[in-house]
Amino acid sequence: MGRSGHTELSGYAERLIRGRRAVRAFRPDAVAPETMRAIFSLAGAAPSNSNTQPWRVEVISGALRDRLADALQADHAARRTSADFPYRDDMYAPVQQERRAAFGAELYGALGIGRDDTAARVAYDAESLRFYGAPHVAFLFVSSGRADARPAADVGAYMQTLLLAMAAYGVDSCPQGLLSFYADTVRGELGVSEGKLLVGVSFGYADGAAPVNRVSAGRVELAATTTFHDQAASDGWDVVGVRGG
Ligand SMILES: Cc1cc2nc3c(=O)[nH]c(=O)nc-3n(C[C@H](O)[C@H](O)[C@H](O)COP(=O)(O)O)c2cc1C
Repeated sequence: MGRSGHTELSGYAERLIRGRRAVRAFRPDAVAPETMRAIFSLAGAAPSNSNTQPWRVEVISGALRDRLADALQADHAARRTSADFPYRDDMYAPVQQERRAAFGAELYGALGIGRDDTAARVAYDAESLRFYGAPHVAFLFVSSGRADARPAADVGAYMQTLLLAMAAYGVDSCPQGLLSFYADTVRGELGVSEGKLLVGVSFGYADGAAPVNRVSAGRVELAATTTFHDQAASDGWDVVGVRGG
């Protein structure tokens, strides 16, 4: 390891983590079963509090996928929501609401939907319940009986590990929080009664021709989210040459 901290994995990690992005138009081609097993097995390497691994994962394809999309759209149209994790608008600080608005403007702009065209935005949301055309969707449940923040955070770590595992195997994905607003619908169609639904992840292979897949969500600069405390002291070590190469 050099002074910069680079290892043989650094370049791969940069490409893998920065290369993943949410895809919102898929081709119908299925992911091979052995690829699917490799991906979900790798995702299980995610860390969790005391190694509790509090995720329960349901992977849906084929006829059940189509039936579930129909049921989700029906419940969406009838406003039959059933979120295990409540959503509140004031959940986000003003600066985060600004980021959300900026992202929404970019996404809907790429779709050719105007800022005030609420009807078109609502229709797009409804259509997204068909998993953006993806042939597969994974539902991530928090398997503890309650919607507690700590096990949910573990399932969040699982989600990102899953997204990166997919990217590493050339599989595209979109995490869809909207799917979690219909937890009873999902449980009903799947025949499961346990667990709290955190998020659904649609996956398959991107439609390279779809303009929406050219949307690239930027990130705020490092200092806006991250503070290095006591930086001066550790820099000082460098100056006096304590820290090796
Ligand atoms: C928990 C979670 C829920 C999300 N829900 C949705 C969703 O309902 N619909 C959607 O199109 N994208 C959804 N996304 C994707 C985000 O919009 C996307 O990750 C973000 O804009 C950053 O873009 P990137 O993933 O392409 O880097 C979700 C992402 C996460 C992590």
